[in-house]
Amino acid sequence: MISLSKVSKKFGTGVYGLSDISFEVAGGEFVFLVGPTGAGKTTIFKLLIKESDPSDGQIIFGEWDLTKLPKSKVPELRKKIGVVFQDLKLLLDRTIFENTMLPLDVVGLTESEAKKKVEDILTQVGIIEHRDKFPVQLSGGELQRAAIARALVLEPEVLLADEPTGNLDAATSWEIVKLLSDINEKGTTIIMATHNNDIIKSLKKRVIKLEKGMILTDEKGEKPVKHEKEGHDEKPEIEEEEKEKDDDKDKEKTKE
Ligand SMILES: Nc1ncnc2c1ncn2[C@@H]1O[C@H](COP(=O)(O)OP(=O)(O)O)[C@@H](O)[C@H]1O
Ligand SMILES: [Mg+2]
Repeated sequence: MISLSKVSKKFGTGVYGLSDISFEVAGGEFVFLVGPTGAGKTTIFKLLIKESDPSDGQIIFGEWDLTKLPKSKVPELRKKIGVVFQDLKLLLDRTIFENTMLPLDVVGLTESEAKKKVEDILTQVGIIEHRDKFPVQLSGGELQRAAIARALVLEPEVLLADEPTGNLDAATSWEIVKLLSDINEKGTTIIMATHNNDIIKSLKKRVIKLEKGMILTDEKGEKPVKHEKEGHDEKPEIEEEEKEKDDDKDKEKTKE
């Protein structure tokens, strides 16, 4: 479904965000994209939604060659690939309900159809009771759920989650990963970027390890996903993690 073949991304600064990486993700997979800050995780996500193009190599999504995909098709691509960005990008002056409704503005549903969809997705991610609150009134975990809801409301085939547990305590991190795992079991392909080793180890999913823009290892998880179901309800011990914030680093980045 997704195939990267010999993909490199060289930035204007001369820095290589990615160097000659290749991997494939099948429909329905759950993949952890792991690596320290600067490894190239976010760069991969940006390439997948065609926010940027590779300087070399080929990226296939379904029947599309993304490097050849015309700009006019990008909105269609973004309907098929939902993203939860590291900084969530929720609008602070809109309620959770309104934020989740936003992607639906362009798809031509009736008002009541759209509302129903938003209610359903907010229920699914467990924050329907916060529907009329503004982002500042929610906890970190609730905000993450809101961003996941917004990314899912168009029913994408793929969900990309960029360090969704980055700013959360261990217990809340686990709940978010459990939610993503449930979403995956309903059929959505998920790629989750993280550097939380405890979570990776406790879920026996495929792990692609990146460092300095290169793939170190690509280890298949235990299949099939369904068999792991029971295990998810126990909270394995995970430490407080990821205190470092990538955000500060991101701010320093030179624009392409
Ligand atoms: N727009 C950009 N301009 C220049 N360098 C960038 C840009 N975006 C990312 N980089 C660099 O590419 C590398 C990979 O970054 P990134 O994909 O953000 O890593 P990660 O998400 O794994 O922390 C880093 O060295 C980063 O500084
Ligand atoms: Mg990143």
